[in-house]
Amino acid sequence: MKVIIPVAGHGTRLRPHTDKRQKCLLPVAGKPVIDHILEPLIEQGFDEIVLVTGYLEEQLKAHVSKYDAQFTFAFQQEPLGLGHAVFQGLEESDAPALIQLGDVIYDLDFQQFCRPDNHRIAVNEVPDPERFGIVEVEGDRIVNVLEKPDNPPSNLAIIGLYFLSSQRPLWNVVKHLMDNEITTRGEIQLADALQLMVENSETVTAEHIPKWHDCGVPETFLEANRALLKPSGKTIDGSTLVEPVYIGENCEIVNSTVGPNVTVMDGAKISDSHISESIVLWNANIKGQTVENQLVEEG
Ligand code: G1P
Repeated sequence: MKVIIPVAGHGTRLRPHTDKRQKCLLPVAGKPVIDHILEPLIEQGFDEIVLVTGYLEEQLKAHVSKYDAQFTFAFQQEPLGLGHAVFQGLEESDAPALIQLGDVIYDLDFQQFCRPDNHRIAVNEVPDPERFGIVEVEGDRIVNVLEKPDNPPSNLAIIGLYFLSSQRPLWNVVKHLMDNEITTRGEIQLADALQLMVENSETVTAEHIPKWHDCGVPETFLEANRALLKPSGKTIDGSTLVEPVYIGENCEIVNSTVGPNVTVMDGAKISDSHISESIVLWNANIKGQTVENQLVEEG
């Protein structure tokens, strides 16, 4: 089955780390977010992957060439919104498709999620519903979809995974939004398109997915790092590692304490420092510092 993964955005909420890097190539727990997304999908048999690209497309093309799967790159010419981005990967066809946003990681049986009986959206209760698309349900059937409402009627958030039992209904409604320039906050929204599908009497159900990791903003990025790290079993003479940590290749760690919950990517140099709850990017250089809850940019 086809999976559409929109990864076109500029990642403004993660600047400056996205100034020269596609957001989904930023690492959590030792590897880029896109690898956390692609590995389980490919393992579970999703081998037709459509990446909706835009900003820094060439980085993604180079990165995914290591996978044994069929990739298609659908280029989004202008950043007109998530609905518009997804549309670039959709077909006017009755074939099913899975859509996974490029900044969310799941521990999930995806084939089970893609049961063909109806369309399905992954949801979960969140403490900050104004940051998400929100659904209202009757039983498990979605009756209302709202994009980031000021006064959320529920805290049941859309968390970035959508199964379409047929692509055609979504194709039709996004086309309608685009043709009529119907936007919310200036963008063609996927949530608005889903609301139209619901209004057109398509059955769209909500499914609770408890194990998900949002990598959309710095705080949740660090939370995902914490949740996904595993003990490294490594030791470094003259320094203390407090597990769980990930230490990449060719790192120099001298007279420092690293951990807990720290990712150190390849080539980083750390001396006389104390790093905890952080992600240290490739080739970063940290000397004589205490670093906590940070993404540390390259040196
Ligand atoms: C997007 C969607 C929103 C959804 C969220 C999940 O928002 O527009 O409906 O709840 O992803 O992560 P974004 O995070 O891109 O602002």
